[in-house]
Amino acid sequence: MKPLRLGVLGSGQGSNFVALAEAIRSELIPAEIVLVAGDQAEAKILAHARERKLPVYACPKSAFRTKLEPEIEEELAGTLAKAGTELVVLAGYLRVLKKPLLDGFGGRIINIHPSLLPSFPGLKAWEQALKARVTQTGCTVHWVNETVDGGAVIRQAKVNVQPGDTAESLHARIQHAEHRLLPEVVRDLATQRIPWPKDPRIS
Ligand code: GRF
Repeated sequence: MKPLRLGVLGSGQGSNFVALAEAIRSELIPAEIVLVAGDQAEAKILAHARERKLPVYACPKSAFRTKLEPEIEEELAGTLAKAGTELVVLAGYLRVLKKPLLDGFGGRIINIHPSLLPSFPGLKAWEQALKARVTQTGCTVHWVNETVDGGAVIRQAKVNVQPGDTAESLHARIQHAEHRLLPEVVRDLATQRIPWPKDPRIS
């Protein structure tokens, strides 16, 4: 089976990237990481990628916090395309995707989010869950479209909220679940066990 070519995007610690890279190295997923991109040069995910000798791309500094300038996003999309990316994996990428990425990779971008969507979209979903006093939350892998955290759900994993949970303890358990869920979904996409959307602008 031809390995699925992945471009991974992140802004932060990169623990989901590490889980994915390790699963690929252990040959649990027929995929290869062709580019790891960070929206800022300091993103730790890039250091993890360099340690693994994977191709790395850091976006030039952006004046915005929640999105990239169109020309910066254009260059990012072009770099992903040049690397031959077939699936874009958002692994802790904290900016809203705009036209250059959505047009270039429509229907081929997935994201991992730390809640059971549609509950608690947006930032710090584990804090939202604690505040709402739910007894169960979790994580979701979903297709990405122009609605933030709004694309079709692919698969979810549940995490129980325990008495005495703090934001940190709950987040840690959700991340533990993420590190299993994301590699599983990428494996099932790579092996066609999960269908790919026909319509590039999946709901
Ligand atoms: C994860 O909790 C993910 O759900 C969210 O951002 C976090 C990234 O963590 N989108 P890491 O950078 O993979 O450690």
